[in-house]
Amino acid sequence: MKMNIIAIDGSSATGKGTLGAKLSKELDFAYLDTGALYRGTGYALLQAGKDPSDESAAVAVAKSFPTEKMLQLQNESAIRNETIGKAASIVSAIPSVREALFQFQRRFAEHPVHPDGTPAKGAILDGRDIGTVICPDAKWKIFLTARAEIRAQRRYKELQLKGNCVIYETVLSDILSRDKRDSERATAPLKPADDAFILDTSDLTPTDVYTRVIRFMNGVE
Ligand code: DC
Repeated sequence: MKMNIIAIDGSSATGKGTLGAKLSKELDFAYLDTGALYRGTGYALLQAGKDPSDESAAVAVAKSFPTEKMLQLQNESAIRNETIGKAASIVSAIPSVREALFQFQRRFAEHPVHPDGTPAKGAILDGRDIGTVICPDAKWKIFLTARAEIRAQRRYKELQLKGNCVIYETVLSDILSRDKRDSERATAPLKPADDAFILDTSDLTPTDVYTRVIRFMNGVE
């Protein structure tokens, strides 16, 4: 039976987070940004002076997070920068790290609760492999895409607003190399599920994206 789960996948800066937050608010679904789990792992490794590609160190970190910590990671601002994004992409290519984080994501999807502990009507998970690996039984699967130049512009503006001194070309090349690593890895690569609704957000506003997704969920698209 299909579960009350919305799987949102896609590469970085396609609008997954904005869509997930809006759907969560409007539908009373609990929301999990699964990228934060990989970012949190990468962050802890760098803090400890370890290499993100060090498999045994990475698995030890991923296994060490208690449930509370995993839930909290998505609110941590220290993990929201390009250095941690790259470290996250590297640790996420290690199959045993993905395995260590699997159960938590699955449990969240099956028993969704809001941050205040109240039960939710369903779960929204955003990431790269939600529709294909974590929740192949999700009732709704959405795969967002956008042209790399547009995504780089979005990320560039976001970083500038946060006061970071960044160069557009560097942001674009970081995005391209992360896309390559995330989609060419052997385990759970970034790719749409066969039954996903694929939406190119390049020329859409967040409201347009939300409206199209609601139409899809209602069986109109
Ligand atoms: O969505 P994000 O930029 O926060 O994700 C950071 C990295 O984590 C991304 O480059 C790939 C990895 N990731 C993953 O492999 N699987 C997920 N479900 C979510 C993120």
